Amino acid sequence: MHYINNLIKNNFLKIKYPVIQVPMAGGIISPKFVSNVCNNGLLGFIPGGYLNIQSLKEFIVTTKSLLRSNALFGVNIFIDKEQRNIDQVFKKSLDVIKIEHLLNINFCDHFTVHSTAKEDECIDLLIQQAVPIASCTFGFFNKYSVEKLKSNNIKIIGNATTLEEFKFCLEHGADAVVVQGTEAGGHQASFLEDTKNIKSTLITLEEIRKIYPHVVIIASGGISTKNMTNYFNSGANYVQLGTAFMMTYESSATDVTKKYIMKNQHTVLTDIITGKWARGIENSLTQHLQNNTYDFPIRHYETAPLRAKAKGNSNPEYLSLWAGCNPDNLEMMSLEQLLDNIKSVFGFRKL
Ligand SMILES: Cc1cc2nc3c(=O)[nH]c(=O)nc-3n(C[C@H](O)[C@H](O)[C@H](O)COP(=O)(O)O)c2cc1C
Repeated sequence: MHYINNLIKNNFLKIKYPVIQVPMAGGIISPKFVSNVCNNGLLGFIPGGYLNIQSLKEFIVTTKSLLRSNALFGVNIFIDKEQRNIDQVFKKSLDVIKIEHLLNINFCDHFTVHSTAKEDECIDLLIQQAVPIASCTFGFFNKYSVEKLKSNNIKIIGNATTLEEFKFCLEHGADAVVVQGTEAGGHQASFLEDTKNIKSTLITLEEIRKIYPHVVIIASGGISTKNMTNYFNSGANYVQLGTAFMMTYESSATDVTKKYIMKNQHTVLTDIITGKWARGIENSLTQHLQNNTYDFPIRHYETAPLRAKAKGNSNPEYLSLWAGCNPDNLEMMSLEQLLDNIKSVFGFRKL
């Protein structure tokens, strides 16, 4: 309990409970969801990944309109090395075509990679909207972005899977860094080397904490209300949860998806769906996709139409079912129940 007391005294993020709801790109959470988390004294993150600038702006404006006056929130941006201003068309791979035939999808031998918000556009938007916290995944903000964010008093959070990435984030201006272990649901945040991360959250956290005793660390991956205190005791200032929030009734993941996840539970690490290592529930999609022609995010767009079709047909076998491997997080419950469980770890304190 040593660290829990300590971090409540030095509350870097000025939130009541040192727990963060991860950003979840791909339409999993809504402005109402994020604002509800923030209004309960946790930090909720808006997922900027895959969004164009207009959609991101709408998400931020709506979230803000639902926030209590002093509630904090953050916005997460994907760092895409090849920024695309316009939509681009690519030729489809054979393994995807085969599955599309199987699912009776209208055959088409090409697919479109959509333009997404550029880093400098996002930074200007964050400043214009007075966003208090900015985080980035799959890389780190460039020096112009960092200068602009810092001169507007916006806190910067990096995402790291290794000591080297942690160092990189700090040296380039991060105020705090997320340390993500292999248990994490969804994509691995790796950006210096795209190798599969198989190191646990706790081991990576302890290794980094020894070297950096004073940096604000957010632990991520496999954390539940049952094991949360272990991470604080091993040096985390904050913890963040993804899968547990995704499994709540209020998330936009479909009921069919959540029930399939709850029943099947077995997760795998795969780079075959999006071109980047990610953890999700094993299903026909993880088993039948074969050759990875394209890197992230192009492969994401290549497999997106067949996943959308599977969603339309309520067929979880061909969905990407991103989820972490801690079974305690694979239960369905209301968001209110999850928030109560989190608060009870710290002793219920009324807001
Ligand atoms: C459905 C889903 C979507 C995610 N999307 C994002 C994202 O947009 N940005 C990001 O930085 N991390 C994303 N993550 C990864 C989380 O940041 C985090 O590392 C992970 O959820 C923590 O592990 P847990 O799921 O075991 O709690 C996502 C995770 C899930 C489950």
